Amino acid sequence: MAKTAILSDIHGNLEALEAVLHDAAGKSVTRFWCLGDIVGYGPNPNECLDICCDFELCILGNHENGVLFPTEGFNSQAERSMEWTRRQILNSPPARRDQRWSFLNRLPRVVQREGLMFVHGSPVGPMSDYVFPEDISNLRRLERLFCLVPRICFQGHTHIPGVFTTDARFLTPTDLSDGFGLGEHKLMVNVGSVGQPRDGDPRASYLIMDEDWFEFHRVAYNVETTIEKVTAIPELGPYLANRLKQAK
Ligand SMILES: [Fe+2]
Repeated sequence: MAKTAILSDIHGNLEALEAVLHDAAGKSVTRFWCLGDIVGYGPNPNECLDICCDFELCILGNHENGVLFPTEGFNSQAERSMEWTRRQILNSPPARRDQRWSFLNRLPRVVQREGLMFVHGSPVGPMSDYVFPEDISNLRRLERLFCLVPRICFQGHTHIPGVFTTDARFLTPTDLSDGFGLGEHKLMVNVGSVGQPRDGDPRASYLIMDEDWFEFHRVAYNVETTIEKVTAIPELGPYLANRLKQAK
């Protein structure tokens, strides 16, 4: 298997995405997969879409779905950012607009190959279900999730990286600083967020997988540049800018 970077929740943050691509290239990664939420919240949706459309695999996130099919159920901040994002894509030059829109329309909700499953949310709700670290105390829920996992499920959505085990543990990237071997045991692996981490560490999060192991990585990027851009767009604004710095 080629060395593969698995990314999620880029959220239109070009500075973070470019830093991750650069870091991964320096680690001989040749293949990129993305688990959704390429857009939403961040100032560069079009640029991030153009980069990700060259990835070997991309999954539909709830923010892509919200851009494609305006629905209710998002908080007002997310809704405003989604409307702004939709306008940026639809106001692109026609050829670019069609390319970006059709890329969004083709994104699958779930991909399964060779015992691996890729979703944005969770095995039971591929696009929108959140699996938080505290869910390990709900054994029935864990059982329902794991019975749909072939061997490993890679996911994002919570923006909190870590590994869920069938014996109800949540292992953080710090717990796994030497990497993690892919044995026969089932796992749910959250790769964290490139563009809007929420685990208290503002650096971009992603994961590298090789033949039989994976490891988490954090990459510092110029968050001040992104914050300036977000602040200058009224539909995004100071709340989202602060969130980048606080990583909460
Ligand atoms: Fe997200």
